[in-house]
Amino acid sequence: MKTNKIDVVLGLQWGDEGKGKVVDVLTPDYKVIARFQGGPNAGHSLVFGGDGFVLHTVPSGIFRKDSVNVIGNGVVIDPVILMDEIRAIEQKAGDITGKLLISKRAHLILPTHRMLDAASEASKGKSKIGSTLKGIGPTYMDKTGRNGLRIGDILSPEFQNRYNALKRKHFGLLSQYDFQFDITDYEKQWMQAVEDLKRFQFIESELVINKYLDEGTPILAEGAQGSMLDIDFGTYPFVTSSNTMTAGVCTGLGVAPNRVGKVIGIFKAYCTRVGSGPFPTELFDETGESLRQIGHEFGATTGRPRRCGWLDLVALKYAVMMNGVSELIMMKADVLNTFKTIKVATAYEIGGKRMDYFPFESGEEVTPVYKEFPGWESDICDVRNYADFPQQLKDYIAFIESETGCPVRIISVGPDREAIVVR
Ligand code: GDP
Ligand code: IMO
Ligand code: MG
Repeated sequence: MKTNKIDVVLGLQWGDEGKGKVVDVLTPDYKVIARFQGGPNAGHSLVFGGDGFVLHTVPSGIFRKDSVNVIGNGVVIDPVILMDEIRAIEQKAGDITGKLLISKRAHLILPTHRMLDAASEASKGKSKIGSTLKGIGPTYMDKTGRNGLRIGDILSPEFQNRYNALKRKHFGLLSQYDFQFDITDYEKQWMQAVEDLKRFQFIESELVINKYLDEGTPILAEGAQGSMLDIDFGTYPFVTSSNTMTAGVCTGLGVAPNRVGKVIGIFKAYCTRVGSGPFPTELFDETGESLRQIGHEFGATTGRPRRCGWLDLVALKYAVMMNGVSELIMMKADVLNTFKTIKVATAYEIGGKRMDYFPFESGEEVTPVYKEFPGWESDICDVRNYADFPQQLKDYIAFIESETGCPVRIISVGPDREAIVVR
């Protein structure tokens, strides 16, 4: 495949759609896999050879032979978490020094950023965001506030002084909270991890990526989180601190909009969310509990139980529109195997008013308007050809396609790399 465009994989819901699996499955078609935003708040699960693996900062192409994996400028990096992850990968896959490239412009998450995240959340009480507490918000705040430290700064003789100055500033901020903390141990690990990272190539990733594009090398951009967690268009303030949508590929990797090729949008056949904030189709009953148990809906990064509910087509259409999705992938269809009835929200009612679009007022009392489908009530885990799917599932997919105007090209029927149906 020769192309001068960068393809994109991203989540269309509230994260955890299965981006890790999809990127791992698609990597053989690409040479370069690049993360463009987010950081260790992400947890991307891969399952192959009877083994599972969760990636946080490293792109999900890392286990594929000959892949080049780039951590782009839009990503925020905690050296401790990244080095732990690298060591775990290397135990399984051998030395990855040559196949992991890190942007000099990617910002560093300091130990005090994590403390600021925790202090801010604690001070919010009931209105807390439900952050993963990895320091994501405070690090992006320092980036836009023009105070941040970047990967490239590690090599500067001034690095320690600049670190100390930023730490002092953070201590000042932390003193305004009623919050006890001690970073001594983590700071030691952090400094060691910074040293350990020096064996990797720190690059001008925007130049490297554009060179690959000019040469016609296939590149896949891997999103983290999901569209409904986007800082601008998600359910603010219950969002993450980066642009999780296609637009983020341009700023997070340094590629022009006209270089974006296919936009592959991923969604679960139902819906989940972890952390606080609006979730119109959330189920608080046994059905929700069944989705959680059957789908093993517990956070890959924090282990927290995920909130579960029916597929929300209002939110999905909103995400398809703003991402310019060209094709869809439906994940976890197998989780619905035993359900007698499956519901899909096609509109909302807010204050007695019906709307078929995702409104600013999504935090208010929202009553979803549902369309019901008969379930297939059979096991699809071993199906590998679309023709062999039960008619009820085909009807469900056809409805989603007609509502979103996008083809569903792949259906995932289990966590494993192999559990996939390509049309
Ligand atoms: P990501 O953050 O988007 O990469 O998704 P996560 O890894 O956080 O969560 C997805 C979870 O669903 C992981 O535990 C995957 O192993 C699992 N998974 C992915 N695809 C499927 C599928 O088609 N069926 C089932 N049952 N599980 C899946
Ligand atoms: P992946 O890439 C699901 C959620 C958190 C919280 C909010 C803000 O695995 O899909 P943050 O730590 O970013 O300040 O948290 O966003 N969140 C995610 N939810 N999947 C993720 O990543 C998430 N990353 C952050 O739960 O509600
Ligand atoms: Mg995840």
